[in-house]
Amino acid sequence: MDFLVKTGQLDNLRTDCLIVQIYGDKSLSAAAKFLDTRYGLVSRVLQLNDLTLKAGHYSWLLPPENAPFKRVLLVCVGAKAESLSPQEIKNTAAAVAKALKNKPVKNAVWSVENAPAGSAKLFATLIAEAFVTHFYSYRETKTQNLTTPALAKLTLHTREKTDSSWRNGLQLGKALGEGINTARHLGNLPGNVCTPSYLAKQAQTLAGGKLNVSVLDEKQLTKLGMGAFLSVAAGSEEPAKFIIMQYRGAAASVQPTVLVGKGITFDTGGISIKPGPAMDEMKFDMCGAASVLGVMTTLQRLQPRINVVGLIVATENMPSGRATKPGDVVTSMSGQTIEILNTDAEGRLVLCDALTYAERFKPKAVIDIATLTGACVIALGNHASGLFANDQALADELLAAGVAAQDRAWQMPLWDEYQKGLDSNFADMANVGGREGGSITAACFLSRYAKAFKWAHLDIAGTAWVGGGGKGATGRPVGLLLQYLLGIYN
Ligand code: BES
Ligand code: MN
Ligand code: ZN
Repeated sequence: MDFLVKTGQLDNLRTDCLIVQIYGDKSLSAAAKFLDTRYGLVSRVLQLNDLTLKAGHYSWLLPPENAPFKRVLLVCVGAKAESLSPQEIKNTAAAVAKALKNKPVKNAVWSVENAPAGSAKLFATLIAEAFVTHFYSYRETKTQNLTTPALAKLTLHTREKTDSSWRNGLQLGKALGEGINTARHLGNLPGNVCTPSYLAKQAQTLAGGKLNVSVLDEKQLTKLGMGAFLSVAAGSEEPAKFIIMQYRGAAASVQPTVLVGKGITFDTGGISIKPGPAMDEMKFDMCGAASVLGVMTTLQRLQPRINVVGLIVATENMPSGRATKPGDVVTSMSGQTIEILNTDAEGRLVLCDALTYAERFKPKAVIDIATLTGACVIALGNHASGLFANDQALADELLAAGVAAQDRAWQMPLWDEYQKGLDSNFADMANVGGREGGSITAACFLSRYAKAFKWAHLDIAGTAWVGGGGKGATGRPVGLLLQYLLGIYN
């Protein structure tokens, strides 16, 4: 989708759809006023009480045939023109995008002239992001009932000549939306397409310029001593991959942030096999990895002056004659031994070796992103990702980033008391605690591999995808991560 900014008179702006704004206090944007004066379009709607004056509610209006716009979408943006919130803009942009998705509208002009001072860039970002993400539709493995939205161009119309804020915001929002869509798309792909090798290929396709990508195979992982990671891969015919993506936008001396993504391309549970219902959703068990690829996609578009390393641990978790069994003891790259009491607690096993590997980058901070525990879904539902950290300043930054990006996390405790749950009679630790506090003991396990740096863990089991009729990956927490890295929304 193309985004443009245009300034000047509305009179002869030819478009399939003109979008004009109204506010909760019944006041009209200049464009809406103009339409009303010229065609009497808006006050009729208000007289009829047809429009709920809340952010995202809208009415379709038909101007006379000789008007340069074929349709008008009158949309309520929020309570008051002077104090619109990012939440209101995001909701409005989402509603407008959805309204346009099902219409034969090839181009649209959104008259945004009344954005409060100083927020033009933020508004443009939110609008472009909403359009890019709402116009994504999954097509890859469908031959029928494909939806092909018509909209190819959205122009933001401003009355007065403006600085580059609107334009910059649009570019930012577009890059952000594309990163989010990358994460969603990889998540949505079935496990027989999106294998560890496929993820590695996608990473390599992104490489170039400031982004260097290398992929380690099982032989190299054996040499590194990644016994925990390899114990998960043992049951699968698909070769495991360790993907290293280095984005270098700043001097080599600038310490990087390291992102570590859980990339289980299908989680059967292994020998501790999962029950049947909804097992298909375990194709989403690589959404942490997908979020790392999403972030890297946006960084490649924006080329910011920062250093970021993305590590992806990719494998299937399968039962077979060669699979790891409950009671098996393995040695992690850190040297610590692990008694695997449940092969379905595989995420922490792949992540712990990646955390040890992360030490070599002398990171400023390490953030792992993982669909780690069903217990986190029970604790927080679908609205917040679980956040655990060994450094409160890092936790606070990530929480704030989640709020700003409208992609929130909620901090969970990482107290020593919970560590006891991992005691083992036969190894340095077990890979599971009890059922109680399951997301916390999982984080406690990871914390034992994250002592050398500031570390945070995002459990996205509840937020990375939605089930039910609208089943699909959400692209979370790409927004949170990019806000943390780049401060996009402020
Ligand atoms: N990938 C799952 C976590 C998961 C389950 C995410 C359901 C979303 C929905 C993870 O590998 C897993 O199986 N975790 C186990 C851990 C348990 C065996 C300690 C779980 O949560 O049941
Ligand atoms: Mn599992
Ligand atoms: Zn899993």
